[in-house]
Amino acid sequence: MVAYKTKMVERISLPAREQREQNLESAGYNAFNLDADDVFVDLLTDSGTGAMSDAQWAALVRGDEAYAGSRSFDELESAVGDVMGFDHVVPAHQGRGAENVLYGALLEEGDVVPNNTHFDTTRAHVANQGADPVDCPVPSAHDPDVTAPFKGNFSLERGRELVDEVGADSVPVVVQTITNNSAAGQPVSVENTRRVRAFADEIDARFVIDACRFAENAYFVKQREEEFAAASIAEIAHEQLGYADAVVMSGKKDGLVNAGGFVATDDARLYERSRQRAILYEGFPTYGGMAGRDVAALAVGLREAVDSEYLADRIEQIEEFGSLLEAAGVPIYRPVGGHAVYLDAGAALSHLPDEAFPGQALVCELYREGGVRGVELGSFAFPDTDRPELVRLAVPRRTYHREHFEHVADTVEAVLEKGESVPGLELATEPEMPEIRHFTAELEPL
Ligand code: F0G
Repeated sequence: MVAYKTKMVERISLPAREQREQNLESAGYNAFNLDADDVFVDLLTDSGTGAMSDAQWAALVRGDEAYAGSRSFDELESAVGDVMGFDHVVPAHQGRGAENVLYGALLEEGDVVPNNTHFDTTRAHVANQGADPVDCPVPSAHDPDVTAPFKGNFSLERGRELVDEVGADSVPVVVQTITNNSAAGQPVSVENTRRVRAFADEIDARFVIDACRFAENAYFVKQREEEFAAASIAEIAHEQLGYADAVVMSGKKDGLVNAGGFVATDDARLYERSRQRAILYEGFPTYGGMAGRDVAALAVGLREAVDSEYLADRIEQIEEFGSLLEAAGVPIYRPVGGHAVYLDAGAALSHLPDEAFPGQALVCELYREGGVRGVELGSFAFPDTDRPELVRLAVPRRTYHREHFEHVADTVEAVLEKGESVPGLELATEPEMPEIRHFTAELEPL
């Protein structure tokens, strides 16, 4: 059920077809290089692109810009305590800043870090400490057709195998990402979190939760995990996050803000180490790279994120978007996750082999046809892995309406009608760091 009405608007427009064609060419067939003003419906990410509430805008005006001892920080601390259940908060400019602070405090050269699936920046920050990030998804995570309630879960079997291979002493930290962004935004059950906690205890490791989308995850838990059917979202979030020694958070997702993040923990020593690193990399520990106003808006946003009516609006919107896309004839990853719908580009453009980047070809075609921007998560973004050729259409929070999604579905339908005339792509430039090439590389149609 819809939970909002519009109070402020932003003008958007669809550039003419020839203009879109030209834009695509000048962007080197990479949607990251497009000007956002040239995009009609922007589904590149759900990160920092959502709409704030009137209460958040009000908090913004009252934000305390003091360098030290800011009142806005007290508000954030109390929101994190109430919503997530942690006493200590180390603010950061965004999620990856918090990752740098936390993983730098926890890891040493040669360590091994299992995670249900590392998000790109998590992987990079673990590697940056000289540690080895290892994904432990459940086998169904990368299968778009398996129907299961918690395909985001951490595979304990894989985790244990890894510990047998490398030895428990090499694994000081176990991470669980909720929801599992790199596995189609699939949720993680509280039962799985409990088991990962027990696994971490067995090997004497710390347990960290990447809580970027903890509220969306809690909504799925309420719907799908019987034990929690009668619990409130707030209770579920407390229970699930409560198993962790620390959480790392991007406020740009379930903090409902445009900037910000933090580390939260009850562990006094870890807090102290993180705080010292934060001073070096982020800022004084009562602002951490955020403006005081952003800290204030995040404090409000965190509380709004666990409002069950907001979450019902959000998750139902994405489910409905998935159904519109399916009705338009495009195969999608099922079940639909919490923040995005993932199109199965390999199946949609089956005439293109993986080397011709079917996912990226679909991204380009969606822009060419309807000014829609999505992101490829297949052989272009993840060379040398056997992930499916997916295109993510991420939905900014509280931003788009049914008409926008209908436009996207019509666009997809028009692309599919083109069939085998949709061209594949090849790389025209090869950036120095292959693991992040998809952000800047340029391509050419074959
Ligand atoms: N962890 C997860 C699971 C994420 O999805 C992200 C960001 C981060 C950490 C890093 O947070 O962007 O605030 O520095 N994901 C965005 C996305 C960028 O589009 O999925 P950040």
